[in-house]
Amino acid sequence: MTLSRRRFLVGAGTLVGACALTDALRPVRAAPGMSMPMKSADRKMPQLAAPKVPLLNPTSLSKFVDALPVPPIARAAGQRTHPAYPGRTLPLYRMQMQAFRSKLHRDLPPTPQWGYNGSSPGPTIQTTRGEPLLIEWANDLPTTHFLPIDHTIHGAEKNKPLVRAVTHVHGARVPAGSDGWPEDWYVPGKSLQYHYPGVQDAATLWYHDHAMGITRLNIYAGLFGAFTVRDAEELALNLPSGDYDLPLMLCDRLIAKDGQLYYPVSDDPSAPWVSECHGNAVLCNGKLYPYFEVEPRRYRLRLVNVANTSFFDLSLSHDHPFQQIASDQGLLTAPLERSHIQLYPAERADVVIDFSGLDGQSLQLRQQSEGILEFRVRDRGRHDTSALPAALRPVPRIDPASAVQHRQLALGEQDDAGGNAMTMLLDGKMWSDPISEKPRQHTTETWSFVNITGDAHPIHLHLVRFQIIDRRPFDLFAWNAHRIVKYTGPAQPPPPHETGWKDTVRADAGMVTRIAMRFDGEPGRYVWHCHFLEHEDNEMMRPYELLPA
Ligand code: C2O
Ligand code: CU
Repeated sequence: MTLSRRRFLVGAGTLVGACALTDALRPVRAAPGMSMPMKSADRKMPQLAAPKVPLLNPTSLSKFVDALPVPPIARAAGQRTHPAYPGRTLPLYRMQMQAFRSKLHRDLPPTPQWGYNGSSPGPTIQTTRGEPLLIEWANDLPTTHFLPIDHTIHGAEKNKPLVRAVTHVHGARVPAGSDGWPEDWYVPGKSLQYHYPGVQDAATLWYHDHAMGITRLNIYAGLFGAFTVRDAEELALNLPSGDYDLPLMLCDRLIAKDGQLYYPVSDDPSAPWVSECHGNAVLCNGKLYPYFEVEPRRYRLRLVNVANTSFFDLSLSHDHPFQQIASDQGLLTAPLERSHIQLYPAERADVVIDFSGLDGQSLQLRQQSEGILEFRVRDRGRHDTSALPAALRPVPRIDPASAVQHRQLALGEQDDAGGNAMTMLLDGKMWSDPISEKPRQHTTETWSFVNITGDAHPIHLHLVRFQIIDRRPFDLFAWNAHRIVKYTGPAQPPPPHETGWKDTVRADAGMVTRIAMRFDGEPGRYVWHCHFLEHEDNEMMRPYELLPA
């Protein structure tokens, strides 16, 4: 095998002295019998370097000794006018990106991180439909990065400042100029004021960094937080609120024994990018294995997967069920009882957990079989006046026949012209190729993601909410030979929990995943991309342009 700029993992045997890592750094699993188009199977992943620092084995930590942090609610710093909202005064929030240290666990030294207003997750921004707001996103970060930048990646070249940031509110319907265009990054000492019109239904959104070529590092460093939208219709349902409604932001990390975050690198110091980043410990709102004291009543938890590449399979101990009430873009038609909730990166699920009758007991939230958070039920004599109505909100189905455009877009991976770099591509195009997707405002389209890789990819479109139409297996060989989609089985409609409004969809390997959406919102340039942050940073992101009606 020739030495390539990016070499690929051939086995875990090279990870000498990193036994705690074997799981965390596992190679990508391909579906059995799945062929790897456009590259050979043994070049699946860059060769991971053994960490130079001793890593923490999280199973050695005492469990459930720290209280679960609940991010504070952001408070407006003042009121301002804005030309887009004549005659109105809007609240202005100031969110400051800063370096800080915090303990991820009682028995660990403080961990250097980056976050908004000095915490990760940052403060929760609570908004209400019909009430626009302004946010000044200030970059007050240091001028050097503490995570490994790959300067061979587009947008992160050596001539670019090391520290750059720009914030995007994931799932927000905002004008293009306030959306956090990845190339609109700015350096420490600068800030940008964005406006959020508040023209969308209640949902759990989240804000995070989106700077070109280093998003994976900035988010890994801690630059994310929750952004919730409420509306009158949802409030009228009397779901659990106030102290009984909180975000639970989950991500996995590798942590060195000295408390520092460790981000995996390839064994090529000039090109440290790796195609996936898996941790071996799950942070719940920034803590490892916290506990949360709850009352014997209903709680609404807004589960958000803010991990770089890992997906979570969440369940409760004692087979206690979740009632899922919302997906990415808001309420489902009715609560769904679920024993497991799977979330790919950037996906959300709002669940109601009913702890009534459990006074004095404990329940654990599990990621696969591991308890990551303990709920301790303690009665404080307060009465639960919340409700969990049988009907939540209608979700009118989009008729795919009403679409004016059906786009077919391949999800692929490719070596570079020299035959040695792996990039992740959308429809075979690079970020800087001319814009090819130009939907027209107020029209409906369907997009079919033809996944020709061996892995699922979570695909996200900015600006719009969509519905999943179906997933359908296709013949990869026919695709490779003739670029045609030949289905090999029936279309699979989405399961009930995927029939609500979404903004991120898991596009499975060997399947065509179809979505439908109406392009409301303001004309301009937006992006769509894979939400595996390593892929997004390495070309699996494309612009699209919304043309005026
Ligand atoms: Cu979570 Cu382009 O976003
Ligand atoms: Cu991907």
